[in-house]
Amino acid sequence: MAKEFISDYPSMDDLRNKAMRRIPKFAFEYLDGGCNEDVSISRNTSEIRDIQLQPRYLRNNGTTSTKTKVLGMEYDAPFGIAPVGLQGLMWPNSPEILAKSAFKHNIPFILSTVTTMSIERSCELTEGNAWFQLYNPVDDAIRDDIIERANVAGCPVLVLLCDVPTFGYRPRDFRNGLALPPKMTVANILQILGKPTWALNTLKYGQPTFETLKPYTPEGLDLKQLGAFMDKTFSGKLNEEKIKPIRDKWKGKLVLKGVASEQDTQDAIRMGFDGIIVSNHGGRQLDAAQSTINSLAEIVTKYSNQIEIMMDSGLRSGPDIARTMASGAKFTFMGRSFLYGCGALGKKGGDHTISMLKTQFKQVMDQLCCERVEDLPKHLIK
Ligand SMILES: Cc1cc2nc3c(=O)[nH]c(=O)nc-3n(C[C@H](O)[C@H](O)[C@H](O)COP(=O)(O)O)c2cc1C
Repeated sequence: MAKEFISDYPSMDDLRNKAMRRIPKFAFEYLDGGCNEDVSISRNTSEIRDIQLQPRYLRNNGTTSTKTKVLGMEYDAPFGIAPVGLQGLMWPNSPEILAKSAFKHNIPFILSTVTTMSIERSCELTEGNAWFQLYNPVDDAIRDDIIERANVAGCPVLVLLCDVPTFGYRPRDFRNGLALPPKMTVANILQILGKPTWALNTLKYGQPTFETLKPYTPEGLDLKQLGAFMDKTFSGKLNEEKIKPIRDKWKGKLVLKGVASEQDTQDAIRMGFDGIIVSNHGGRQLDAAQSTINSLAEIVTKYSNQIEIMMDSGLRSGPDIARTMASGAKFTFMGRSFLYGCGALGKKGGDHTISMLKTQFKQVMDQLCCERVEDLPKHLIK
């Protein structure tokens, strides 16, 4: 067992429950919720868990390795940290905690355009190993500058997000008055006062801001004006015309995140993407969406030899990672899970969550008598 593993919190539910007690309600619900009636968020996990795997007990050479290759790089396990906006709001300093842990454990960390750490800091903490997720800016000059900064900082992979053509309809955020960035209502302030560790850490690390976007944000905006600036600066509505200059300018690997259909996969292949992340944004955008494990099943059968296919949304455990890899994904990501870890355990949260998931995942491989991650599909019961 890795030394960072804290045996009081052996499951994601333990971490989530503790995080719920330590994070103010408006911030926890922003992290934890889905959209509309929360159908998609629960379907994602339940349909992953419908997958069953078969062990091969008499073929055991006792040499399991969790190392996994994706996009020409080798990682210690087949999972990484998905891009999450406003991480510092959920837990102060959490993007730094997670970037450092990801680097230490040799798994990928993806920085969101709208999180609370800059591209430069993320690459500094990971010695140039962090990936960067781009929300497409409306202004071409801002787009080109962000791409150039990711390039100079040494990011190996640019992840272009395609599944936010509009804001998700999230009832909890309406009720909590949570806009981007959050409004400080009396109710929110009272919630903060009830979470002293979060409040003290926020004082220590300062009010979270959109660090990567600082050079483009006019000074002296109040929170409302900043929200309006963000709405005006980014557009999630993508098409080939908007993607072409990004492909031309980005020299590293380019990944499209948020793919849920064969048609978008075909387009991604034609437009020269190196990989896709089959994702429905963790069930936060379209409550009527297909679960990602079912989208994956359709896409991998036809396109896995033409583009690298990764998946996120709904995974919460080592068995979930194994089920997804057995279903044909080349790699997996998780979003909420790592923030539950930080919310529960602060600066130990990154190391513990990664160790826990890796321990659980390796146990499944050992139990299946599956020695190599790429052999997991042989254990899928169809
Ligand atoms: C609070 C929150 C904020 C998110 N912000 C972003 C973002 O800024 N960029 C992005 O590409 N995806 C974002 N996502 C989606 C995640 O990258 C990922 O697709 C999703 O969390 C996967 O589902 P899971 O949380 O069930 O693992 C966000 C997800 C959550 C929960």
